[in-house]
Amino acid sequence: MKGLFVTFEGIDGAGKSTHVEGLAQAFRERGRSVTLTREPGGTPLAEKLRTLVLNDAMDALTEALLVFAARRDHLQQLIEPALARGDVVLCDRFTDATFAYQGGGRGYDRQVLRVLEGWVQARPGTQALRQPDLTIWFDLDPAVAAQRLAGARLPDKFEAQPVEFFRRVAAGYADRLAESPSRFARIDAAQSRESVWQEVLAAVQQRGLLA
Ligand code: TMP
Repeated sequence: MKGLFVTFEGIDGAGKSTHVEGLAQAFRERGRSVTLTREPGGTPLAEKLRTLVLNDAMDALTEALLVFAARRDHLQQLIEPALARGDVVLCDRFTDATFAYQGGGRGYDRQVLRVLEGWVQARPGTQALRQPDLTIWFDLDPAVAAQRLAGARLPDKFEAQPVEFFRRVAAGYADRLAESPSRFARIDAAQSRESVWQEVLAAVQQRGLLA
């Protein structure tokens, strides 16, 4: 079995996490071994960095350096070994989130983010960077996402941002899709949970990934 790398993206409140679990189950039912993980996080070191990024005030470059440091450890310790074993790696957020949140939301220089992406996702012996095989983007109007999040739980640093911040994050995702349209499946996350799930399944099946 060839390894498969699928990432899940969207603004806070878009409702992606339940579908990550659902897709893990669908792959397991077809006999695939699944590594389920998230960013920032996924390894002991990266989870420590996650706590800092989500709770401590810092400038946008510091934030970008920490999420890419977490990503480097995550790739080396967990993602690359899992792909080499032939696992399906399902990752709740990856580098598109950095371009959306730090690049779009925080307005940080995307050229610098591209340099960091090139360093962190370099693969020895090849020119190609490690990128997801498929990215499922749960696209939702930030005003609707804010309603969904209201009162749900104590918001972290990003969840506490105003709707305008999430409009810039959403625009950041749209830019990433425009750069690599074949990698993305955009899903209208305003639909019912069941309809969203059917679209997630269809996106994976249409690409022949869930045989
Ligand atoms: P989560 O709540 O979906 O686990 O995501 C954690 C938060 O971290 C979310 O608000 C998005 C943010 N984030 C970034 O700002 N940059 C990144 O590179 C990643 C992966 C997440």
